Amino acid sequence: MKEKLEALKVEALAKLQEVTDPQVLNDLRVKYLGKKGELTEVLRGMGGLSAEERPVIGQVANLVRSAIEEIISTKQEVFQQQETLGRLQAEKVDVTLPGRSLPQGGIHPLNRVVQEIEDIFIGMGYKVAEGPEVETDYYNFEALNLPKDHPARDMQDSFYLTDDLLMRTQTSPVQVRTMQAMNGEVPVKIICPGKVYRRDDDDATHSFQFHQIEGLVIGSNIRMSDLKGTLNQFVKEMFGPSTGIRLRPSFFPFTEPSVEVDVSCFKCGGDGCRLCKQSGWLEILGAGMVHPNVLRMGGYDPEKYSGFAFGMGVERIAMLKYGIDDIRYFYTNDMGFVKQFKGI
Ligand code: PHE
Repeated sequence: MKEKLEALKVEALAKLQEVTDPQVLNDLRVKYLGKKGELTEVLRGMGGLSAEERPVIGQVANLVRSAIEEIISTKQEVFQQQETLGRLQAEKVDVTLPGRSLPQGGIHPLNRVVQEIEDIFIGMGYKVAEGPEVETDYYNFEALNLPKDHPARDMQDSFYLTDDLLMRTQTSPVQVRTMQAMNGEVPVKIICPGKVYRRDDDDATHSFQFHQIEGLVIGSNIRMSDLKGTLNQFVKEMFGPSTGIRLRPSFFPFTEPSVEVDVSCFKCGGDGCRLCKQSGWLEILGAGMVHPNVLRMGGYDPEKYSGFAFGMGVERIAMLKYGIDDIRYFYTNDMGFVKQFKGI
């Protein structure tokens, strides 16, 4: 029996010595020391030994067991260290590597201009209002003093969806919606940025879809001078402190009197250049005193209240401000174009 044990020890140690894989090591541990392992198998025969032999063999068996256990635990330790080392190697971080820059988006030039204009008017106490792009004939035209068959409807070729629904041709319907929502309360002081649609052929200065910003103020004693002062302040903040405005008579069905507003050319200071076509002035918006019929339809008594309104094209302002000569650049998503506005 003793020889058996010695042979087992020699065999086990030789095999364990060669192990290079933790899984194999574990298999061998089970093979020799497990419940059904070879050492247990040999010890099971101890029952047949004499009382003198038993402690001797028992001692030998214990020595064999501890020899095997020792080599297993040494091996386990080595494997553990190798694993840790491997993980450290694999997870090594080179802190001296230069950082990888992530692509970063920018604000589209049109949104930038809208935000800038919003900021200026919010600074003057205005609120930002919104309205639907699919509008009823009533809000887009009728309530703005443009009854059916009114010739001025031709000024704005429309996309009709049904007899009564169209893509709004202007942001002015938000004037009426705001007045109705305010329920006769004053003051009303809003701007409304948004998309508008017209049946135009696209070219360098026209697009079937573009953006406007509407403004509306209603209160007691609102006068033309308030409109003029407001717009004068606006252009100074938007185009520079040395710019100013001039008003030219015009016509809109929903304002009376109506004006076309020009800003003095911020490029040449009014002397005349290519941008202002030598005139010294740039046309930027339409405006006027809210027509009494419009006030009435919005729920305000024109005997008690008055107001002004204005509307400007965002693309036109962006084109003037950044020297862009084709409106189509705004919509074609040419990265070379939009990237130029990233840091402005
Ligand atoms: N809605 C007009 C247009 O699209 C602009 C405008 C708005 C004029 C408000 C006067 C007052 O041309």
